[in-house]
Amino acid sequence: MTLRGVVLAGGKGTRLGELTKVTNKHLLPVGPYPMVYYPLKKLTGLGIQEVLLVSGTEHMGDFVELLGSGRGHGCNMTYRVQDEAGGIAQALGLAAHFCTGSRCLVILGDNIFLDPLGPFLAAAGEHADSAWVALKRVHDPKRYGVAELKDGKVIGIEEKPERPKSDYAVAGIYLYPPDVFEVIKTLKPSRRGELEITAVNQYYVRTRRLGYTVLDGYWTDAGTLESLAVANQLVRQDPPRF
Ligand code: G1P
Repeated sequence: MTLRGVVLAGGKGTRLGELTKVTNKHLLPVGPYPMVYYPLKKLTGLGIQEVLLVSGTEHMGDFVELLGSGRGHGCNMTYRVQDEAGGIAQALGLAAHFCTGSRCLVILGDNIFLDPLGPFLAAAGEHADSAWVALKRVHDPKRYGVAELKDGKVIGIEEKPERPKSDYAVAGIYLYPPDVFEVIKTLKPSRRGELEITAVNQYYVRTRRLGYTVLDGYWTDAGTLESLAVANQLVRQDPPRF
């Protein structure tokens, strides 16, 4: 089955205050590059040639100016506009046509991490009908989707739980089989008014089709002032591997 790449780069970036008043979070600098370069390079580093970027109306022009056709990155870029921020799963739903009949590797545009994705893809490759997530041990799991593990399997996932059942955060790196778009169509908005990617992953837990790989190297999102500073520090100390 073919594999297509999706970078989700929408959202309002409100947690970054004045930094995102006139630009998109994923265009802010992390080390020597705009943030969006990192998820893109993770995908092209795997040899993925077709990449879709989803963002809002306000800054799509800037992404096109930055990445163009994708020629400079060895890929073909396709762009889709998310009219209003309605959650990660809603943004992914816009990739349905682009991904028809393919599996899709989805990376949240603000996820910065060390490990190349070869081992993740190899593990997922042995289970073509399953969805696959990357997990990372963190000291503040309440901020994330959190996986409950038993006997080497994910048996539950909760979004930003008050009482996390483990310290394994679900990172913003997901591989889905083609039926993910049918799953997204069945979702209802969560309490924060969004179609949650955690609800998608819960479907694959229920149907026993969710696998995972644990990331060894560092992983952070860069969606708050603190985590953006951390991301810059990490990238300077030890640049991500593609
Ligand atoms: C989102 C997901 C969450 C995941 C996180 C990773 O959270 O909802 O499950 O752990 O990305 O970066 P958000 O950044 O929307 O709060």
